[in-house]
Amino acid sequence: MQPIEVLRNASKIVYQNVKDLAGTKAAAEDHGVGKGGDISRKIDIVAEKTVLDYLKKVKFDCIVLGEECGRVELSKNPKGFVIMDAIDGSANAVRGIPFFCCSLAFAPKDRLSSITDGVVTDLSNGDMYWATKGKGAYLNKKKITVHKQIPVYKIVGINVSGAKPKLVKKIQPIFENSNHSRHLGANALELALFARGLIDVYIDLRDKIRVTDMAAGYIISKEAGGTILDTNLKPLDSDLSYETRLSFIAAANKQILSEITKQLKL
Ligand code: IPD
Ligand code: CA
Repeated sequence: MQPIEVLRNASKIVYQNVKDLAGTKAAAEDHGVGKGGDISRKIDIVAEKTVLDYLKKVKFDCIVLGEECGRVELSKNPKGFVIMDAIDGSANAVRGIPFFCCSLAFAPKDRLSSITDGVVTDLSNGDMYWATKGKGAYLNKKKITVHKQIPVYKIVGINVSGAKPKLVKKIQPIFENSNHSRHLGANALELALFARGLIDVYIDLRDKIRVTDMAAGYIISKEAGGTILDTNLKPLDSDLSYETRLSFIAAANKQILSEITKQLKL
């Protein structure tokens, strides 16, 4: 089985296993601090176990890098890494806000830029966003692309959770110049909406986001024609380590990128 099929199958089963759990009291059960540094909730654990069980069942030779479970070597002869955030948007999932997803990616090497496959499944409705390097990005069976034209309403996605005063000051012009800013609470799914052309630019400059939270969104956005840059305006790249924290701008077209970089004085 190709990596993309493995990821798609695993995330379908995650949807089945968690769709009735989200928003319940049981979903919030505390399972201690995960490898990514946040408290693991029951819904995170159920979703991760689903993926791990499936990868073992189909004997997919890989090393899993999971947000809660950390590094799990499923083979002595791995083909590469499965980068797993089995629930991205855990706070939404626990509270029952219908915006959270399962994010799975595959990389043959230990680099973000080496990712070849990604799947983001919207766990509120089962919609699946997916991409394989060089083959485009899809929402279920439909090909998707970022929004290249001037939009009727320009939608600026920006993650401001926990933003420190220095960052608030830096991003103030973004709010001043945008009447339609959005912050929805699950980076991987926000990148999927960006790839689908519903959000024109998505910005996270907090130096906080983990590779697990955005590996799948990264390849889906790129395959949909998006540009993802770091704060030096270089193509975003990093290793896949747990310690790595990222900041980035994902832009649908040159015009919006140039507006945003001017506003941010980058
Ligand atoms: C979180 C989401 C959220 C972002 C947090 C992440 P998690 O992922 O992506 O949008 O603001 O920094 O931790 O913890 O729900 O997997
Ligand atoms: Ca998570």
